[in-house]
This record gives sequence, C-alpha cells and structure tokens, in this order.
Amino acid sequence: MARRWVCAAGVALFFACLVLHSHFCGPAVLRKRPFLKWRTEKMLYRLDLGWPRFSEYFTGVTFCVAVDSLNGLVYVAQRGDNIPKVLVFTEDGYLLRSWNHTVDTPHGMFASSTPLEQSVWITDVGSGSYGHTVKKYNSFGDLVQVLGTPGKKGTALNPLQFDNPAELYVEDTEDIYIVDGDGGLNNRLIKLSQNFMILWLRGENGTAPAKFNIPHSVTLDSVGRVWVADRGNKRLQVFDKDTGEWLGAWSSCFTEEGPSSVRFTPDGKYLIVAQLNLSRLSILAAPPTGNLGHCSVISTIQLPDQVLPHLLEIDRKTGAVYVAEIGAKQVQKFVPLNSHVFGFSV
Ligand SMILES: *[C@@H]1O[C@H](CO)[C@@H](O)[C@H](O)[C@H]1NC(C)=O
Ligand SMILES: *[C@@H]1O[C@H](CO)[C@@H](O)[C@H](O)[C@H]1NC(C)=O
Ligand SMILES: *[C@@H]1O[C@H](CO)[C@@H](O)[C@H](O)[C@H]1NC(C)=O
Repeated sequence: MARRWVCAAGVALFFACLVLHSHFCGPAVLRKRPFLKWRTEKMLYRLDLGWPRFSEYFTGVTFCVAVDSLNGLVYVAQRGDNIPKVLVFTEDGYLLRSWNHTVDTPHGMFASSTPLEQSVWITDVGSGSYGHTVKKYNSFGDLVQVLGTPGKKGTALNPLQFDNPAELYVEDTEDIYIVDGDGGLNNRLIKLSQNFMILWLRGENGTAPAKFNIPHSVTLDSVGRVWVADRGNKRLQVFDKDTGEWLGAWSSCFTEEGPSSVRFTPDGKYLIVAQLNLSRLSILAAPPTGNLGHCSVISTIQLPDQVLPHLLEIDRKTGAVYVAEIGAKQVQKFVPLNSHVFGFSV
C-alpha cells in the first residue's frame, strides 16, 4: 500500500523528478540553463523499490531507522496501538523479527554494534512508564540499559533526566551524544562517556550560538566535529567533540524550513539533511577541516508532498540511505548510483 506513494508517480516521473535535482525537473529547464548542466550529473541515488520485500510490514507511523552495517541489519521503529514497535530487517529487506516490549513512543534510534554485540539504542518520548528515556536493546529486544528516569520528564543531571529526547549518536569508543529534545523542557546536547558520566553539556532554549530550539538530530563527522540539526532555529550547529566548544553554524540552506535529520556519507564528502514538511532530502558538500565555510547544496531528492521524511540513517559500508517517512508511513532505501563517486570499495 504505502509503496504506492511513490509508485503512483510512475517510473518515468520517478527518474525525472525524484532522483534528478528537483530544480532541473524537465528538459525545458535544462535547455534554458545549460551552464548549470553539470548539476544533472550529480544524480547520486536511486530508490530501491525492492526494499523492504513487503511494504505491509509497516503497520504504524515509522519515525526512525538505524543501520548496523557490521551485521547487515536495519532497525525501524514505528508508533501505533497494538503493533510491533521495532522491526528488524536484513539489508536485503527481509523481516527477521519484531518486538514492542518496553517501547512506548519511539522517536530516534542508533545501532551500535561490535562483532560480539548487536545492539540498538532508542529514544522514547512517551509519557507512559517507559517514556522520557534513552534505552539500549540487544538485537532480540532485551533491554540492556536505561538512561533517564522512566516515566518522568525533567531537567536534572544527577540522576539524568530527559524530556522528549530526540536522537543520539554513539561513537566507536562508545561515547554517546544525545539531543534532548523534541520540544520539551530541555534544549540541550549532552556527551556521555561509555560508563554514562556527563563529559560536557551545551545548550539551553534560545537562538544565540550554542543554544537550541528543538535539537532534533545529531551526528559526528570524520574530523571530530558534532553536528546538530537545530530544527526550530533553522540551522545546523557544529561543536568540537572533545571540548564541546561551539565552532559555527550553517543556516543559509534552511531558510524555508529547519533540518530534521543530519548524517554524513561514509566517505565524509557529503551531508544528507531531511526537511520534514518540505518532503525534501538535500545533499550538501561537507566542509574540510578548519573553517566551516558556507552551506552548499549539491543535489536534492524531492519526495512527493506529504511523505514527511523525519529521520534517516546511512549504511556505513554501502552508503545506502534509509529514510523514515512519517507521512507515507514507510521507510525507503536509496542506493548510491555510482559507487565510485563515493569512493567505496564494495
Ligand atoms: C505488541 O505486538 C503484538 C504483535 O507483534 C501485538 O499483538 C500487541 O498488541 C502489541 N502490544 C502492544 C502493547 O502494542
Ligand atoms: C524556547 O524559546 C522559544 C522562543 O525563543 C519559545 O517559543 C519556546 O516556547 C521556548 N521553549 C521552552 C521550552 O522554553
Ligand atoms: C510541519 O507542519 C506542521 C503542521 O503545519 C507543524 O505543526 C510542524 O511544526 C511543522 N514542522 C516543521 C519542522 O516545520
């Protein structure tokens, strides 16, 4: 069913409008602006219509997706009544298992695995007895760690409390970055050590540098910078991962709507940013070390109206992009068209 959101557009329209840069949707436009033709070569992704194998797996509102590239697993969390909340797929789109025990209202997730341990973290914005927490599960749905005070929102640091924790990012060192949150009492970015001690904290509600209004998504780049989608302030803010020092912000790409999700491609060359109500994914040039420079859009994937891409994740091995869409109630997979563009050795 859900697949028809895209299929209805037809294969031709799909190639013309979905994959190509939306601004160059049609040959007339191309003829008029030949000097911009190079942009059409930046056709970076195609939609994988075979993922997942059956769209009927999605029975709720799909808020987030996580990829365990080490073990070839894709996790999807969805909201709804009397449904499995977490679905575990293979990267080929086969459903392996699902669970809903101790998951109230999932918002964001992150897969953090070692060869010995397969796990997924989920931020839960529910107001029931499992809500206001950031939880770690093993791949079979056993709860192995709870951060926050279950069922109780708050601003405290000891013990740590959250209010609508939006998303998290876990480094290979197991240091954790949490954005808290999605419109609650807190507007902060917290770095925790692998044994859950607070290493640093930035932010409070506001528009000044290092303040946030709905810090919605967080990720790291390859040179030690933390990127936060500061959605309400319509900008990405950037911090030093060791000190928490504010390094700058990008806002010129987000005048229409703030970013709801931010991730880097595995080669570190691009950032992919989702804009929810615009139903748009933008592929931005990643800045080199040092000066952040300016925000520059390389390509966009314009999804049909009301698809509403909420959060996305990128497979670190293959570069595939998985997008959790709360309007279309599905997760779609986009694969890089030209793997050498991204420098993969697949
Ligand atoms: C949990 O999921 C099962 C189906 O997998 C469903 O029958 C059950 O109602 C769900 N429970 C809740 C509390 O949503
Ligand atoms: C944060 O500030 C904005 C205006 O700057 C205001 O609209 C919003 O309600 C504030 N949020 C909280 C949680 O105080
Ligand atoms: C998207 O639109 C809805 C409904 O108009 C609004 O409530 C929401 O705040 C918007 N979200 C963003 C990120 O602009």
